[in-house]
Amino acid sequence: MICPKTNTLMLLSAAVAVLALTIPGTCDADGAATPSPPAWTVPDMDKLPDDASGKLVRYGRDLVSKTSSLIGPEVADAEKRFAGNNLDCQSCHISAGTQKFALPLVGVYANFPAYAARIGRVETIEERVQNCMERSMNGKPLPPDGPEMTALVAYLKFLSTGHPAGVAIDGRGSGQMPELDRAADPDKGKKVYATTCAACHGNNGEGQRNGKAGDAKGYMFPPLWGADSFNDGAGMHRLIESANFVHSNMPAGTTWNEPALSPSDAWDVAAYMNAQPRPKLPDLSRDYPDKLEKPVDAPYGPYADGFSIEQHKLGPFAPIKAAVAALKDKARR
Ligand code: HEC
Ligand code: HEC
Repeated sequence: MICPKTNTLMLLSAAVAVLALTIPGTCDADGAATPSPPAWTVPDMDKLPDDASGKLVRYGRDLVSKTSSLIGPEVADAEKRFAGNNLDCQSCHISAGTQKFALPLVGVYANFPAYAARIGRVETIEERVQNCMERSMNGKPLPPDGPEMTALVAYLKFLSTGHPAGVAIDGRGSGQMPELDRAADPDKGKKVYATTCAACHGNNGEGQRNGKAGDAKGYMFPPLWGADSFNDGAGMHRLIESANFVHSNMPAGTTWNEPALSPSDAWDVAAYMNAQPRPKLPDLSRDYPDKLEKPVDAPYGPYADGFSIEQHKLGPFAPIKAAVAALKDKARR
């Protein structure tokens, strides 16, 4: 495509011209071509050859969809017990990471290495996986060169087939519904939970196993809190992340374009879920070396702003965002 004001630029630089002509995109205010996100396409596993590389990708997908049976805390081989809970990666990265706004893994590999505020430096895709291993899966890091990490990265790379480096896909994350101008209300959320969630996830958030404890068969409906769920350092433990995930994806079968819950019910039920007990990760205060880069909904201090931990957990977030923006502005001057 050709943008009105880039023509001169294109005469100057053949490389820019090629880019502007081959990547579909939009023109920003200055008329510069910016590549639009790649279309939502999931590469076909069935077309993978039955050779070593195809097998590696398939094993990577199994590690995402059957994590509890392969590297969970109940597997027979004690050496392979890397995850600390019986969730699967796809308890959150729904359908093995192939669904829009269900924390997809499609196109993610193409966006790594990437700056990670939590550690204050650029991180690799392997480090990003370890992050979910230690927090979402409440477990240990995988051996960096072992077969599990190699297979997971091969699967992630496969899911980025045809994706230009550094361009985020439309559908990444879990959505961005409007925020409330009040604090989310766990008491209201408790009622939503009882009517809309408990039938699958249990009255005490304990979920429902496929079989019985100790059999490494994982869950039909994963636990939302308690000893066998994600820990307090996990992304799902942040309100904005979990409320959007619930709004876009729950009850199971819901998709982002037809949410079942109203935004306010989603905010309140996520607040209720996050107020329940779960495993604790030590040393969380070390996260985000620059506290101004801490997400406003990080449910643990310290913070650079003067807001209470309660408001960071429940909102409203707009006043915190404004205060953080002002502090950043001041720091720049
Ligand atoms: C309890 C829910 C949960 C489970 C289980 C989970 N994750 Fe995640 N994962 C998340 C959330 C939430 C994010 C996004 C967090 C953020 O950065 O805001 C994420 C992000 C990621 C990302 C980066 C995605 C992106 O768009 O940049 C990768 C890669 C990833 N997870 C891999 C895994 C793998 C592999 C497993 C299993 C070993 C796993 N996750 C298990 C919740 C989960
Ligand atoms: C029909 C059964 C069902 C209902 C009802 C349901 N869920 Fe789920 N939930 C699931 C399943 C199954 C998964 C695993 C992901 C998938 O395959 O969809 C899941 C995953 C989750 C996860 C991420 C994994 C984890 O263990 O934390 C959260 C959070 C969640 N549900 C919250 C809710 C909330 C809140 C409600 C009520 C608004 C709800 N769910 C209603 C079946 C259900």
